[in-house]
Amino acid sequence: MKHYKIALIKGDGIGPEIIDEAVKVLDAVSSKEKFEITYNDYLMGGIAIDVKGEPLPDETISGCLESDAVLFGAIGGEKWDKLPRDKRPESGLLRLRKSLGVFANLRPTTVFDELINASTLKPEIVKGVDLLVVRELIGGIYFGQPRANDGNKAYNTMVYEKDEVVRIARVAFEAAQKRSKKVCSVDKSNVLEVSQLWRDTVTEVAKEYPDVALSHMYIDNASMQLIRNPKQFDVILTGNLFGDILSDEASMVSGSIGLLPSASIGGKVGLFEPIHGSAPDIAKQGIANPIATILSAAMMLRFVLDETSAANRIEAAVKEVLRGGYRTKDISQFDAKEVCSTSEIGSIIADRVSKI
Ligand code: IPM
Ligand code: MN
Repeated sequence: MKHYKIALIKGDGIGPEIIDEAVKVLDAVSSKEKFEITYNDYLMGGIAIDVKGEPLPDETISGCLESDAVLFGAIGGEKWDKLPRDKRPESGLLRLRKSLGVFANLRPTTVFDELINASTLKPEIVKGVDLLVVRELIGGIYFGQPRANDGNKAYNTMVYEKDEVVRIARVAFEAAQKRSKKVCSVDKSNVLEVSQLWRDTVTEVAKEYPDVALSHMYIDNASMQLIRNPKQFDVILTGNLFGDILSDEASMVSGSIGLLPSASIGGKVGLFEPIHGSAPDIAKQGIANPIATILSAAMMLRFVLDETSAANRIEAAVKEVLRGGYRTKDISQFDAKEVCSTSEIGSIIADRVSKI
């Protein structure tokens, strides 16, 4: 029997609750598909600051590096916002991404027909949207040197080396080959040198993928086009900061940030997390939506463990449960037949997974 070692980072706020539900679903699918998972918990974020005095303890990095994949909930909260930047929960996550080498962040946005009214956009604009943001995750302005803030003057550096652009571009083109064969690369090359290198490099890499159509868009225009006509996009390829912004925007096309998963891959060990944050205001009330985390676990099965049928099972179960009208509170106003708690919906999905 195949056996996988998964590192769990529950983190802060609603993190522990949503990870518990993903584990429930993983246990159901693994017993059905005949593989075994052992889980090890590691600390990161605010809880790690409280317990260990730092947002990313060494044993978390080494534990993750010894695992087959990392499933992560969420971090952060007001309590730690006053700390210096490099001591905050977020810096733990950035350092973990860098330590794992996960340069490719895949953020799919799909619209569930059952929740078509959850979007603030008109149903005819969002129906059928299926796009993937491929965001470069361990370079660009997030990590560029020099950076400083002396109270009078502050700066950051947006820097990309050609190799970094080549490798993320390949991820986007390869993803497009399995989808609708279109890549739209987003930059600001009318103003920034770093974006000119980005654009020239992506154009060069595109020659290796003649079956994929490449277009380019400036970030300002892309932000507008994403709301005007999201269906024009298949794969959006972009850098770290633009990708951070565009993927939040894309999530609102689907209407429910609580449903969208992500995968960070390309490094030593893959990292899988919901795209939403730690939502401390609703923590420990049993109302958080665990579906984004459950779907992140499905991406983990698909992308690194190669358990495609298990991943399909989870995705199908989530669709069925939504079709059945089961809703957590955040989406309860959209055709709910039954409003469920975090753990109720997790159990319903786990139950469906075994029956599909
Ligand atoms: C995300 C988050 C992070 C980012 C923060 C928490 C550092 O917004 O995963 O999109 O900016 O990458
Ligand atoms: Mn973000």
